[in-house]
Amino acid sequence: MSRPQPDISFTFNGAAIQAITGQTIAAALLDNDVREFRKTRFEGEPRSIFCGIGVCWDCVVTVNGVANQRSCLIEAVNGMAVTS
Ligand code: FES
Repeated sequence: MSRPQPDISFTFNGAAIQAITGQTIAAALLDNDVREFRKTRFEGEPRSIFCGIGVCWDCVVTVNGVANQRSCLIEAVNGMAVTS
């Protein structure tokens, strides 16, 4: 069985990200070799996914202007704008 090919796209900090319908934002970012979703507020440490199930909040991003969205829970939508 072959792997599905990307059929939608969105932007992350202005860069084009290819995604497969049904993928979460986090999965699509990892698939596109994005390993840093944000930096911590005080220490500036890089963060990505940790739990992958909506518990830790390490993966938060801004989606279409709405802050603090857990990228591991939100399905990628064609044309959405995601930022750190
Ligand atoms: S990776 Fe833990 S909430 Fe998303």
